[in-house]
Amino acid sequence: MLLKGKTVIITGSGRGIGKSVAIACAKEGANIGLTARTLDELNEVKDEILKLGTDVRVSVKTADVTKYEEIEGAFKAFHEELGEFNAVIANAGYSRMWNSHEFDSNKFTEIMNVNVSGVFYAFKAAYPYLKKDDKNNKSRFIITGSGAFTTPMPKLAAYTASKYAVVGLQNALALEYKKENINFTMVLPTQVDTRMLRGRKAGDGNKPPNVMNAKELNDYYLFLLSDRANKTDNALIFTSDFGEIRNLLSKTPPVKRENWEVFKPYLEENAPKIYSNVRKLGKLVEFLINSTE
Ligand SMILES: NC(=O)c1ccc[n+]([C@@H]2O[C@H](COP(=O)([O-])OP(=O)(O)OC[C@H]3O[C@@H](n4cnc5c(N)ncnc54)[C@H](OP(=O)(O)O)[C@@H]3O)[C@@H](O)[C@H]2O)c1
Repeated sequence: MLLKGKTVIITGSGRGIGKSVAIACAKEGANIGLTARTLDELNEVKDEILKLGTDVRVSVKTADVTKYEEIEGAFKAFHEELGEFNAVIANAGYSRMWNSHEFDSNKFTEIMNVNVSGVFYAFKAAYPYLKKDDKNNKSRFIITGSGAFTTPMPKLAAYTASKYAVVGLQNALALEYKKENINFTMVLPTQVDTRMLRGRKAGDGNKPPNVMNAKELNDYYLFLLSDRANKTDNALIFTSDFGEIRNLLSKTPPVKRENWEVFKPYLEENAPKIYSNVRKLGKLVEFLINSTE
């Protein structure tokens, strides 16, 4: 098991991406702290995890990430129940789409509060409990960003601004805590079939083909949480690049995709732009090669 005995705390884990990642981590043996505002959804995720029979511990605490005292209280309780944190995934997020000149000003603030302050609060509240004593087993602070960073979309100005902001936040934190055995990384998905994107239609089986299932993101988080990413710091994982790599891998003759060293020249020749985007993330490509076999 990839994460046996590790403790992973995930905000926004009642549904969508956070739920999918929580279940994937529990399958790999991690103890899980689940938090969001809706208790019923968190309890459903907890039940699903316990049904796996992987003998992991699961703790549930409701908290609003925009209220520091709530997230601080939840993380304190997670520490009491689960011990030191190996990882925190700041995943909770919120969005609304509207013409910017008509956009409700309070909504703009709310989006920034959830998507930016919520990430900062999660880091601040987690810091005392993050394991920081082993350079060979660093703790992880992982942010769910968005492909809106670098590819903004109309009517999503607040969301886009918030997802640009968290990249700056990660850059600053990675620099500031460089010597403290904490790695900061981000997964930046394009469109995913969750309530945020498709409202109540999420999961109805009629998603457009370009929209991913939340489960397709699990490997990126599992890699970042695993020992294989111990040296991966301040990295941005754009799922669009790695989606193309997976596509290419499925068409690549087996001898050309035995491992990263073998696949690298093939990728450079067949998809030079993707190669240049991912060449520093060879360990992740190798992880995907192994997980697709
Ligand atoms: N879906 C996409 O297309 C897409 C694309 C790129 C990036 N992302 C990012 O992926 C992350 C997860 O979103 P998702 O797509 O999985 O959406 P989702 O299904 O709506 O899930 C969002 C999660 O965040 C929680 N949350 C929202 N506001 C919160 C608050 N104030 N305090 C605490 N928890 C809060 C929600 O629970 P409660 O409402 O119960 O609190 C829920 O568990 C977000 O950061 C989002 O920006 C999504």
